Amino acid sequence: MSAEKIIIFDTTLRDGEQSPGASLSITEKLEIAQQLATLGVDIIEAGFPVSSPTQFEATRLVAEQITGPVIAGLARANQKDIEAAGKALASARKRRIHTFIATSPIHMKYKLKKNSDEVLKMAVEAVKYAKTFTDDVEFSPEDATRSEMPFLIKILTDVIKAGATTLNIPDTVGYILPYEYGRMIAQLKAEVSGIDNCVISTHCHNDLGMAVANSIAGVRNGARQVECTINGLGERAGNAALEEIVMAIHTRPKFLVHEDYTKVLATNINTKEIHRTSQLVSQLTGFVIQPNKAIVGANAFAHEAGVHVDGMLKERSTYEIMTPEIIGLSGSRMVLGRHTGRHGFVDRCKHLGFKLTENELENTYQRFLEIADKKKEVFDEDLMAIINDEIHVVEQIYELQYLHVVSGTGTLPTASIKIKTKDKIEQAAACGDGPVDAAYEAIREATGQSPKLEDYSIRAVTSGKEALGEATVKITETCPEPGRRKGRIYIGRGISTDIIEASAKAYIDAINRMVATTDSGQEPEIKAQL
Ligand code: KIV
Ligand code: ZN
Repeated sequence: MSAEKIIIFDTTLRDGEQSPGASLSITEKLEIAQQLATLGVDIIEAGFPVSSPTQFEATRLVAEQITGPVIAGLARANQKDIEAAGKALASARKRRIHTFIATSPIHMKYKLKKNSDEVLKMAVEAVKYAKTFTDDVEFSPEDATRSEMPFLIKILTDVIKAGATTLNIPDTVGYILPYEYGRMIAQLKAEVSGIDNCVISTHCHNDLGMAVANSIAGVRNGARQVECTINGLGERAGNAALEEIVMAIHTRPKFLVHEDYTKVLATNINTKEIHRTSQLVSQLTGFVIQPNKAIVGANAFAHEAGVHVDGMLKERSTYEIMTPEIIGLSGSRMVLGRHTGRHGFVDRCKHLGFKLTENELENTYQRFLEIADKKKEVFDEDLMAIINDEIHVVEQIYELQYLHVVSGTGTLPTASIKIKTKDKIEQAAACGDGPVDAAYEAIREATGQSPKLEDYSIRAVTSGKEALGEATVKITETCPEPGRRKGRIYIGRGISTDIIEASAKAYIDAINRMVATTDSGQEPEIKAQL
């Protein structure tokens, strides 16, 4: 049985990065793009080049350095945006311009202040202009699901004549229900002239929790491209989650083609890279994955209820519709400890898929020994947290040397701290509302930096009383230094078996990232206008 291909268009770096609080540096975007290529996505939407010099540069570098997938750039339906996208994508081996304009009455009237004839003209001109940069042009009628069907049919027919090769149908506000979206795709497929020579694409937001179901309904009715993000990252409630769509297609390949069970669907995704990609995106964006998240949540393959465990032991398929191995979780839980030699450690790192330099290996091994001293058993998850911490390290402008915290019922929480800088050791002591607050106050005093704490979270990397704690913080700079953008979010992480120490390390890590940053450009003002 031959499989029909579903094109996976990943927009983690564009729509995903529009999530409030998700802010990736260019280096981090490149690292994610590289991992997306390893994952096997067909298209990477690398950014919205006109929106800021940083976005332009990130898109340009992804286009220049990432081979394999098509690299796409977003552009509104005007010459300036399209030209910026065309220039940013110029060095890509395969490039796509994705141009869009809103088509719903509400968006045309209040946002664009244009009538439908004007919008139609802009869409057609935009596609024609985009064609001067590349043959591969995608058009999106923004807010399609609240647009009037006759207008949608007209604009899609006209942009096809102008040269569009992919037609994306965004559910921009996450409003539609699966049966309606499926019906809409089927109607467009039947009534838009020339559509058979184009790819129909889904782009669903998750405001009602329907993004994946809607995308699947689109596929069942003829869409052959799905736009999605890792971990469902994206504006407001996010976009359709790539891992859920891919695993739905992988698990139920025969049941996704409307009324025809002889056809099967498939993607090019190497599913064994799903877990690693999800962890990387979570780590770099600071968006912690909820434990019960489908496919990539910590509990997605955990069985606890007695009846379930009993069934699993007798036959895995009683309660398991896919194996953890398929998304790249190692089946065997190997435990390392103080007595694991360097050789065993290196071997486990390789098994987990990490290719570390000699230097990184040595540093990670030393960190592993320190942790193994405090914690009898070191699990794969611990090892992954240590490695990720090590490979994403920034210049240690401030380094934690000593931390002592006193806290308890009826005691004023106090912290004393020593922080190593380039040429001296700074000391400070402070009290706070709790032990973390006291430690953070002491850090502010010792470093002379006073960023605003925007978000703080702590999670246990594994279970048990000796678990490694991983703290994630997001900070903004209260009065930005010249060259650094106001409102920019810096993410810091820290791991330790002591959660106060993990929290302090995370805060110092975020400060180090902030101090090391020099932005060339301003935050895209048009982010809000999308
Ligand atoms: O949600 C949306 O409508 C978009 C478009 C720019 C495709 O992200
Ligand atoms: Zn979107």
